[in-house]
Amino acid sequence: MRAICPGSFDPVTHGHLDIIERTARFFDEVVVGVGRNTSKNGLFSLDERVSMLTQACAQVPNVRVSPIDGLLADYCREHDISAIVKGLRFASDFDYELQMAQMNKQLTGIETILLPTAAQWSYVSSTLVREIAMMHGDVSPFVPGFVVAALKSRAERPAGRSGDEEDQA
Ligand code: PNS
Repeated sequence: MRAICPGSFDPVTHGHLDIIERTARFFDEVVVGVGRNTSKNGLFSLDERVSMLTQACAQVPNVRVSPIDGLLADYCREHDISAIVKGLRFASDFDYELQMAQMNKQLTGIETILLPTAAQWSYVSSTLVREIAMMHGDVSPFVPGFVVAALKSRAERPAGRSGDEEDQA
C-alpha cells in the first residue's frame, strides 16, 4: 500500500522527518507530496523544497518526493495512494487537520491517518523556524544541517524576496 505525507515543508523540520520515517514503517511506499499552501508566505521555492526533502529522505529506501500541483485528493486518486498521513502536534492542529481530512474524504474518498508528533518536536513549526532564522537565531536543533545553511544564506539576502517570487521569475 502507498501513503502520502503532504505538506508545504517550508522548510522541512525534524518533526516532519519523524512523521515520514514512521509512516515508511507501515506502508510499502511513501510519497512526500510537496504542495503550495496559498495561505502562507513562502520562503523557499517549490523546486528548492522538493530538493531539500529529497536530500533529507535519501536514507529511507521506500520514500520518494514529488511536487503536488492541484488538489491533494486528485493526486491521491491519480497515483493509487490509499492514505494521507499527517502529524498532529496540539489541539489546534487537530481542528485544521480534521476539516481537511473530512473535505478530502468527501472529494474522492481518500482516508487520512493522523499520527501524534514525537513529543520532542511538538513545539517546532516551519513558521517559527523561518522567523527565527530570518532574525539570525539558531535553528540547528530543529532542521537538518543543510537546511540551516540554506536558511542562513536566505537570511543574508535583501529583505522581502521570497522563494515563491522566484517561482514566477
Ligand atoms: O504543511 P501544510 O502547510 O499544513 O500543508 C498543507 C497542504 C499542502 C497539505 C495543503 O494545503 C494541501 O493539501 N494543499 C493541496 C491543495 C488542496 O488539496 N487543497 C484542499 C485541501 S482540503
